[in-house]
Amino acid sequence: MEFSLFEKREKPLIEAALIEFLDKGTYSKGTLGQAMRYSLTAGGKRIRPLLLLATVHSLGGDTTKSYEIATALEYIHTYSLVHDDLPAMDNDAMRRGKPTNHKVYGEDIAILAGDGLLTQAFEIASLGSLPDAKKLALILALAKAAGPMGMVAGQTEDIEGENQQVSLEVLKAIHEKKTGELLRFSVYAGGVIADAPSRVAMLLNAFAAHFGLAFQILDDILDVVGDSKELGKKTGMDATLNKSTYPALLSLEGAKAALENEVVGARKTLVQISEYYQTKGGQFDIQLLSDMLDLLRLQQRRE
Ligand code: IPE
Ligand code: IPE
Ligand code: MG
Ligand code: MG
Ligand code: MG
Repeated sequence: MEFSLFEKREKPLIEAALIEFLDKGTYSKGTLGQAMRYSLTAGGKRIRPLLLLATVHSLGGDTTKSYEIATALEYIHTYSLVHDDLPAMDNDAMRRGKPTNHKVYGEDIAILAGDGLLTQAFEIASLGSLPDAKKLALILALAKAAGPMGMVAGQTEDIEGENQQVSLEVLKAIHEKKTGELLRFSVYAGGVIADAPSRVAMLLNAFAAHFGLAFQILDDILDVVGDSKELGKKTGMDATLNKSTYPALLSLEGAKAALENEVVGARKTLVQISEYYQTKGGQFDIQLLSDMLDLLRLQQRRE
């Protein structure tokens, strides 16, 4: 299936689920609820829930049982952006084409809106009709991916990496944690929900690791060459804060080569998954994940 068609079908369902769970929350009224809703509905590509659902679909699994965990993931991602934009962190004024949460609601409410999104995410993840054992595995993995061994650790290292000359190895590890872990979770969750065999789960993990790193390298590149309007956020901020990024360390050309390298690595693992199913029997829709990978290619974006 083409990703554009899948996105047309699934994105409205994801958007609806994001709001449905917010409305169910007992604390969704008043300023806190408004601030949470503001960032959740500000737009956004919804790449993480789409990647999760696409993984389920590509393996022939049932996407209808996936919305709770996909929603939880997008709540956590949205919280990470609200906090990432705070003056004490990246000090950004624009996000998803709108003023950042703290610009509208103040830093105090923005911090609490982030706390609310993070906490409610785990409430949502515990709902739904997946078997309890799967839910437990997913909640554990989500906590690890988002927490002090994953995204939060990466964000810490990102801040500590300002005004520092870090090695490529260290930078890669920062990116893998701050951005890679949640994307890796997207694919992992898809594999769990669709009962991927262990060999496939291993290959999916390798695919997701490449995808996650490529995603942040592209984000770094777009901060240099991207269009602020199109991205919905101000560009040039990494240089202003003297962040450790791929273009800063490797030059723009080096960063582009590193991005392409990750995309090629990811594509190889998709082919390996396809080959696995060819020998063992069963279907794998390679096009869906392959199309998502194409979204990360700079040339593709310009066409
Ligand atoms: C931005 O994520 C932050 C990074 C981890 C690079 P996205 O590029 O997915 O942002 P939205 O969700 O589309 O706004
Ligand atoms: C953010 O990385 C990663 C998160 C965990 C939010 P960036 O700080 O580069 O993301 P943008 O460029 O502000 O979206
Ligand atoms: Mg940041
Ligand atoms: Mg930022
Ligand atoms: Mg960035």
